[in-house]
Amino acid sequence: MLLFLFLLLLASPAAQAVLPSMAVGVNYGANADNLPPPKDVATFLAAHTTIDRVKLFDANPAFISAFANTGISLAVSLPNSALPSLADKTTGLDAARSWVRANLSPFVPATNVSLLLAGNEILLSPDPNLVVSLLPAMRRLAQALTLEGLTGVRVTTPHYLGILAPSDGIPSNARFRPAYDTKLFPPMLHYNNQTLNYALFRPNRGVYDPNTKLNYTSMFDAQMDAIYTAMKRLGYGDVPIAVGEAGWPTQADPGQLGVGVDEARDFNEGMLRVVSSGKGTPLMPNRKFETYIFSLFDENQKPGPIAEKHFGILNPDFTPIYDLGLLRQSDEATFKLRASLISEAVATSNFIHSGAPNPAPNPSPNPSPKPAPSGGGQWCVAKAGASDTDLQNNINYACGYVDCKPIQSGGACFDPNNVQSHAAFVMNAFYQANGRHDYDCDFKGTGVVTSNDPSK
Ligand SMILES: *[C@@H]1O[C@H](CO)[C@@H](O)[C@H](O)[C@H]1NC(C)=O
Ligand SMILES: *[C@@H]1O[C@H](CO)[C@@H](O)[C@H](O)[C@H]1NC(C)=O
Ligand SMILES: *[C@@H]1O[C@H](CO)[C@@H](O)[C@H](O)[C@H]1NC(C)=O
Repeated sequence: MLLFLFLLLLASPAAQAVLPSMAVGVNYGANADNLPPPKDVATFLAAHTTIDRVKLFDANPAFISAFANTGISLAVSLPNSALPSLADKTTGLDAARSWVRANLSPFVPATNVSLLLAGNEILLSPDPNLVVSLLPAMRRLAQALTLEGLTGVRVTTPHYLGILAPSDGIPSNARFRPAYDTKLFPPMLHYNNQTLNYALFRPNRGVYDPNTKLNYTSMFDAQMDAIYTAMKRLGYGDVPIAVGEAGWPTQADPGQLGVGVDEARDFNEGMLRVVSSGKGTPLMPNRKFETYIFSLFDENQKPGPIAEKHFGILNPDFTPIYDLGLLRQSDEATFKLRASLISEAVATSNFIHSGAPNPAPNPSPNPSPKPAPSGGGQWCVAKAGASDTDLQNNINYACGYVDCKPIQSGGACFDPNNVQSHAAFVMNAFYQANGRHDYDCDFKGTGVVTSNDPSK
């Protein structure tokens, strides 16, 4: 069961360049028989979304050429089976140059290929030949790219989270596995209420790390910090980390808990806040991480359990399966009608909010600095018709991240003492503090960005 895909790309020694800062990327898998042509996909993403990078699972020329002159950069993948021949001491460099000439040179620079992913999850491979081929093959690919004049392409390789040794989930105890073998147990999610909320960035008790004295209220933060700790143990704490694949399915086999549109949106929204807002994680505060959401479309021809086919964020007709705030604002009205059916279903289905009706605010290990109330001429306000329950939930949620003293008794914004007024303050503070991304004002579809100063 692959509910939580999480792969990390660790920059190779050949790729010293600092990873680009803010980025929202998406994995574009096309193992389906109902998807639009690649050219339409590229045009749609460029014109109507804020997605600025796309990861492919191969180097299919039709897909690479489709992204020419779109401003969207590509990560393309080289199959595992190609690695041994590229690693060869005498013929490897020539083989690498041939591969680059055949697969990349015809399309670059019209298409901005910025990453070449050498193989996939090689360290999980039972074939020891593949594992020893990885680093030499990456070196020769980097050299070949330079020799072929494609200096804008960096070489890296995706790792599965299973490279960490099994541990108690305390980030500061994490280390890489002493030896990579075939018996890697993917991290298991136990679907009781608490761990599900922990995984989905929903209010929860959190996990306390006694070594660093930090409380983790999301599994994503804990996993990022676990990777960081394991790298730091080896002296490489500064190597940039990118999230190659992370996502959540919207459908699964009957009886499987924790899967649905609400869950998928909560996970992806929470993740976007960590990786792209500059909030960072408890051990890596203020950092941004190049991230590729898994996945662009559902893939109906994928083998395996139902969930495997349902990680998509867009339908084949480009309507969102759920709203992640990645559509450009001007397009939102256009999509509202078609998306409203989906939002209705979301709004009426059960939001899981564990605990008392008004749970205590979530403590944030790194509260954002006090927000500027009105930066940039953009404000986040509650949508007309948002219910008091929704607004109270927004307050509970956002107060985990921003300073809510002003709306507490005695605070400057306590009066008028009602949920609408308090929510207005907190939702906007959250939006401002996180860098004014549309998705920071989404609040499960109850917030909207406006350029009219609400205090006037
Ligand atoms: C190509 O993409 C990378 C990563 O998104 C970006 O930093 C770079 O500026 C782009 N280059 C061009 C020529 O657009
Ligand atoms: C969550 O916990 C509550 C109370 O402990 C329980 O009634 C409910 O069935 C649980 N839900 C799930 C999905 O396990
Ligand atoms: C973290 O949570 C634990 C247990 O809930 C609590 O005892 C501790 O004071 C908290 N620590 C911090 C730094 O917030």
